[in-house]
Amino acid sequence: MKPTRLMLAGLGNVGRNFLQILRSQADLLRDRHGLRPIVVGVADSGGAAVDPAGLDLDALIAQKAAGRSVARMVKVGRPGMGAIDIARTVAADVLLEATPVNLQHGQPGLDIVRVALERGIHCVLANKGPLALAFQDLAARSDWDRPGLPALRFSACVGGALPTINLGRRDLAGARILKVEAIVNGTCQGILRAMEAGQDFAAAVAEMQRRGVAETDPSLDVDGWDQAVKLVIIANAVLRRPTVLSDLTVRGIRDVTADDLRKAAARGERIVLLGSATRDDPGADWRLTVEPTSLPMSHRLARMTGDEMGVVYYTDIAGVQHATSEEADAVPTAAAMLRDVISIST
Ligand SMILES: NC(=O)c1ccc[n+]([C@@H]2O[C@H](COP(=O)([O-])OP(=O)(O)OC[C@H]3O[C@@H](n4cnc5c(N)ncnc54)[C@H](OP(=O)(O)O)[C@@H]3O)[C@@H](O)[C@H]2O)c1
Repeated sequence: MKPTRLMLAGLGNVGRNFLQILRSQADLLRDRHGLRPIVVGVADSGGAAVDPAGLDLDALIAQKAAGRSVARMVKVGRPGMGAIDIARTVAADVLLEATPVNLQHGQPGLDIVRVALERGIHCVLANKGPLALAFQDLAARSDWDRPGLPALRFSACVGGALPTINLGRRDLAGARILKVEAIVNGTCQGILRAMEAGQDFAAAVAEMQRRGVAETDPSLDVDGWDQAVKLVIIANAVLRRPTVLSDLTVRGIRDVTADDLRKAAARGERIVLLGSATRDDPGADWRLTVEPTSLPMSHRLARMTGDEMGVVYYTDIAGVQHATSEEADAVPTAAAMLRDVISIST
């Protein structure tokens, strides 16, 4: 069986879990999908490791668990070689991008993805930054706009393993979407529900960091930017509206107090960080907002626990479609990257 050669940029919570599930799902991948993935190159902030025959997954996982850069590994380590260098030079079929989000310049992820696409390498992103800043540019360089070009997939970018993009784009084919509502930032959802249970804001943030769910910089979560980026991706990919962050109205959860949450509960409501896309009629432009919103408890998204995320699509002919997912750590995000690799490779 011919191997599928993977490169992986970023070996944090998501990247390490991806390596783990490559190991745990190896038999299933072979038997169900006819796939034999090997990892030919990886990079972290300290450098890279490369082996065209396939790196030893156990050794990689052990190296990161010990807190050491892969660049220091014996024989395969490449100090001084960055993620952009492996994207530029290593022979691979798919690049997986899981470096931290940067919303100012999108780097290093944006250039890594551009270089890989230019070389004809399919790209699977968990890092939303490149899509937030350059969705239309990356779409034009990939099969997203032009069949035949390398694939661009990013289902891990919009709520972990929640099938936000597949549901909106593939499964609602033929329907007009009238409205979208989404809670796709697990960190804010977890913090608000923990505050309802009596925890203070700082302790709730620390707990989300401990579980590896918060962004590397958690202010991206609590100030609403992570959810805003996801709404940008939904707008571009599902609503087909070329959209950038500055098109959105964004307010995070820093000002939400325990008292606000208590008062909402007394009214039979719940405060959530809601992302929404609405418009007055099918010809009008979309209004895109992320803000704390008090929803009646009868609303599907109000009933979710602190570990859940969800999306609701209101349509003209396909009814109201909604999905929720329960994710306590970064494993389902890694699973979403694997789902993209499978869809590209089979
Ligand atoms: N965590 C989640 O649940 C989740 C869910 C959906 C999407 N995401 C996205 O997935 C991405 C990764 O998240 P994470 O939680 O895994 O982050 P993380 O734990 O902070 O890990 C980031 C990784 O990127 C590496 N890195 C940093 N700068 C780099 C550079 N210039 N070149 C190469 N590697 C570099 C770090 O290296 P070191 O190991 O040397 O520090 C680390 O391995 C983010 O974009 C995040 O938004 C995360």
